[in-house]
Amino acid sequence: MASPFLRSKSPVHTVLFAAVAAAAILLLLAGFREMQTPLVSDPQSILSSSVIAAPANGLVVDPQLPSTLGTSAPAAAPAAAIADAAAPLAAPAPGQAAGQSPVPAVDAVFLIPLTSTHFNFCRSLYTALMNDYPKPTLINWGQTFKNGAQARVNKIIGIDNVLNKLREDQYAIIMDGFDVWYQLPYKDFVNHYLDYTRENDHSVVVFGADKKCWPNDLKSPACVNIPNSTLPDDIFGAHTDDANFITDPATKYIYHRPRWLNSGNMFGPVKVLRQVYERANYLITHAPPDMVFSDQMYIAEVYGQQNLPMTVDFTSELFQTMTFSHNDLMFVDDDVLASPRKPPSERRRYAFNRVSGALPPVLHFNGPKQAMDAWWPKMWWSTERSNPAVIAKSEEVFKTGGAFDTDGNFIPWGEICKGIDVHKPSGYISPR
Ligand SMILES: *[C@@H]1O[C@H](CO)[C@@H](O)[C@H](O)[C@H]1NC(C)=O
Repeated sequence: MASPFLRSKSPVHTVLFAAVAAAAILLLLAGFREMQTPLVSDPQSILSSSVIAAPANGLVVDPQLPSTLGTSAPAAAPAAAIADAAAPLAAPAPGQAAGQSPVPAVDAVFLIPLTSTHFNFCRSLYTALMNDYPKPTLINWGQTFKNGAQARVNKIIGIDNVLNKLREDQYAIIMDGFDVWYQLPYKDFVNHYLDYTRENDHSVVVFGADKKCWPNDLKSPACVNIPNSTLPDDIFGAHTDDANFITDPATKYIYHRPRWLNSGNMFGPVKVLRQVYERANYLITHAPPDMVFSDQMYIAEVYGQQNLPMTVDFTSELFQTMTFSHNDLMFVDDDVLASPRKPPSERRRYAFNRVSGALPPVLHFNGPKQAMDAWWPKMWWSTERSNPAVIAKSEEVFKTGGAFDTDGNFIPWGEICKGIDVHKPSGYISPR
């Protein structure tokens, strides 16, 4: 499968791809040189360690960023990137400069199940609005449920109800509220969906992909009866998908290809999503109460039935789930091949999946949350904070941003995120 990069239309992506392909050659060499290096086994060290000096081509690799670049396993990944590098890079369409392409004509509704606000939701909403996403509709906003199981049942019922009020020809984006960041413009997200589903005529729902089947029984259809990854079966080296290779539970699946449905990110036609949620609603409302510890379990069960047009994002073309995957990402600046380079305050730094070659529009920090604090200051909306365009956009978000409840009432930013400064460290809430 060609790198998703080659299907991207933005020149920024083209430049990034070229830069990363060049870096990949260096990394591949480094990989061969350091074949004996032990694999990283501690997630803390993934977040805090080391590692690689800036290569001679000027590619900026954040030294704080996780990187086992140079250990043996990932060496296969750059090889794939090199193969792609030989192919001609996609030329930008005439007159289509970065950031100027129009939003594709997809009528999509942005839904977030969320009963009450949270610092991390404000960060999530901020990144969405900074990237021109539509204002989301919050499902179950203001409701309280008597326990976690009821909240999960009602999450599915609430989404099902809203889907039934939408038009059949619409699309819906359904996202977790607390741990999802949007790093690329909305139009890029939509374009990536259109590209990823081109062969299916955009009639398929795309979900995030996890490296581990959870929480379904490992022998259940949801874990077993589903398509294999489209990535090469040696993308992480000889131990790709080898569950016996690493025993530490914290890192056990880092060399697995993402394959299992994650229900915290999805994008697809309302027509299909309604069927998915109708079935999941039936399953969860008929499940014994002690089996209602996850709503994902029931969406995954529907996927395991394999008779609706559902797929997962094997290559992180849309959604980058983070569990066991921090190591697959590297930060790349958008001007690495520009000469002269942009002033630092105007550079956009993106988390790039060096394994699949995709620049994921959405980062989903499912699993361990430390990376959210470690990465926030590195994302472009933090590093670019002296850029007048970013200041202006931020002010617009604070002034006009917000979300809707399912009755169509607008809840302004100042109400949802009152007293919260997204740029302060996690948990910061102003005393007033
Ligand atoms: C997935 O790959 C495994 C191992 O190569 C193979 O046995 C299995 O049939 C494949 N499953 C599907 C659905 O293609």
